[in-house]
Amino acid sequence: TRRVRTRDLIAAKQRGERWPMLTSYDQYTAGIFDEAGIPVLLVGDSAANNVFGYETTVPVTVDDLLPLVRAVVRATKRTLVVADLPFGSYEEGPTQALRTAVRFMKEGGAHAVKLEGGRRVAEQIAAITGAGIPVMAHVGFTPQSEHAIGGYRVQGRGDAAEDVVADAHAVAEAGAFAVVLEMVTSEVAKRITHDLPIPTVGIGAGPDTDAQVLVWQDMAGLRTGKGPRFVKRYADLAGVLTDATKRFADEVRGGEFPGPEHAFH
Ligand code: KIV
Ligand code: NA
Repeated sequence: TRRVRTRDLIAAKQRGERWPMLTSYDQYTAGIFDEAGIPVLLVGDSAANNVFGYETTVPVTVDDLLPLVRAVVRATKRTLVVADLPFGSYEEGPTQALRTAVRFMKEGGAHAVKLEGGRRVAEQIAAITGAGIPVMAHVGFTPQSEHAIGGYRVQGRGDAAEDVVADAHAVAEAGAFAVVLEMVTSEVAKRITHDLPIPTVGIGAGPDTDAQVLVWQDMAGLRTGKGPRFVKRYADLAGVLTDATKRFADEVRGGEFPGPEHAFH
């Protein structure tokens, strides 16, 4: 077995094969997703919400994310690992963006990086890809700009469709190997997927993208409460873990754990 390469993903698009992508932030989930055949794992800046407990992705730093990237890379054999560039680590321009991308490659061992934005980060994408680092782009709703966008809002409705389309074309022209389309209408996602030679990865972008990504805790139901409409829960990990925790607590309180088989003499 060898690692998935970006060219494998482009070839999959040409064959009309869809692929799944998940986030991962730690060794156990990364190992499970790798064994289960997920070809691309994203160490997302969504670690801000899903690991560190922040309200938005804005506070998370490169130094917060680097150890998570290392863990996911170490735990996988086959998966292509994409490291997300956090807010503040690439906006100043191509030089800053390249410097941050190099850190994720050198210190994190990532195989590619991802950043948010369309036309406004085309120069950054060109600089990073020009240095031999694959870039996944991310257009439509971009969570790092949540305060400017005014919350979680579907992008590409009505006249705004042309903005999303122009952003997607710009990142492909700048050299991105794939582009995440987040919370855009199915119609716009379908059109972009048809137009671009690179794979589109949808999240809340309908059924017609080349790939689909979800945050793993959403996919597996570790996060409880009302999630976004685009999430489908494939398990109830929160329920399983709550049950296990209560049984452990009960057995400790009742003197049933540890049993003779868990003790040394
Ligand atoms: O950080 C993240 O989890 C993401 C994906 C959902 C695309 O950027
Ligand atoms: Na992200």
